[in-house]
Amino acid sequence: MPAVLLLHYPLPPDHYPLAAMNFIDLKSQYRRIKPSVDARIARVLEHGQYILGPEVLELERVLAEFVGTKHCIAASSGTDTLLIALMALDIGPGDEVITVPFTFFATGEMIALAGAKPVFVDIDPRTYNLDPAKLEAAITPRTKAVMPVSLYGQCADFDAINAIAGRHGLPVIEDGAQSFGATYKGRHSCGLSLVGSTSFFPSKPLGGYGDGGALFTDDEALATRMREIRVHGQDRRYHHPRLGLNGRLDSIQAAVLLSKMEIFADEVAARIRIGARYTALIEEAFAGATSRVRAPYVEPHNACVYAQYTVEVDRREIVETRMKALGVPTAVHYPLPMHLQPVFAHLGQKEGTFPHSEAAARRVISLPMHPYLAEADQVKVVAALKEATAE
Ligand SMILES: Cc1ncc(COP(=O)(O)O)c(C=O)c1O
Repeated sequence: MPAVLLLHYPLPPDHYPLAAMNFIDLKSQYRRIKPSVDARIARVLEHGQYILGPEVLELERVLAEFVGTKHCIAASSGTDTLLIALMALDIGPGDEVITVPFTFFATGEMIALAGAKPVFVDIDPRTYNLDPAKLEAAITPRTKAVMPVSLYGQCADFDAINAIAGRHGLPVIEDGAQSFGATYKGRHSCGLSLVGSTSFFPSKPLGGYGDGGALFTDDEALATRMREIRVHGQDRRYHHPRLGLNGRLDSIQAAVLLSKMEIFADEVAARIRIGARYTALIEEAFAGATSRVRAPYVEPHNACVYAQYTVEVDRREIVETRMKALGVPTAVHYPLPMHLQPVFAHLGQKEGTFPHSEAAARRVISLPMHPYLAEADQVKVVAALKEATAE
């Protein structure tokens, strides 16, 4: 079986090659929720309302209650939800939207796809999130929204960002694709600003068995617009006051997500515990070793869900190669910041414009992370990291 097929088509467990360690482990989770998920999927197959069926409505209720917003609009992906939010705020050509250069490509991509110009603000190097101290200087008369990212599962500083945006009458859209389940000062990610967006890509803290995403807001009129845009901009069947897209969620994905919500609080607690254990192990292993590895910094007011457990190292390429040889899978999120992507070259922001984003892109490396990671495996990962970062 070619390796590429193994990546795309999960096979029964006994057909998997004996991996040294998984970067994420969706099989253990499936074993845990199998009776629930199988029953819910079977119900969808019986009733036959495959798109925006009753499971989608139920999921929207469950998620809105979890986040604490009046409205949840489930949609086709965490990319489409960003575009839907921007379109619902009438953002388009001639407008500017502020975001960070250090994020997954979709954040800047959807701003540009909406027709607006992405304007980048550098990150706080400790949290990798938008530095509020740099926000005001980036606001111009053309700015129409601010779109901070809650990277790696830790919320950006929304009180500070909302206060600055509020002074300028700007809406704030949280790209919470990686932070569903995280809290900021006790409040849930996606409910921290006018609109929150998340992703249900399988590897996300709340992931489906395919693509999916959701939007959250308390604003009734905005919720209505986002619902309309989700289905071709129609306000009733075959009547289109605006343009939209096919941004609908499948009922089978909603069924899967409802099953996963049954164990989500427990998985979030496990992620927090496992993240803290990694940090303690790293601090112990590298004590006195003049910081060859930097563990993640989490603000005291944040609970991070560690969509990624990401550390910083010197000479990353060497560390990656050595970790692979030691049987520990790693990944880099993300190697090239937005302003240095070829498609944004016309913005004219050369290397050196956003030093913290550029340094992070050169130095970050993510370790295996999922709620079922055993302590013994974490010990192995950190031992491998020590070996891989040795002179
Ligand atoms: C920060 C961020 N924004 C947006 C997205 C897009 O989400 P999706 O893959 O569901 O389209 C992702 C997912 O990888 C992400 O990490």
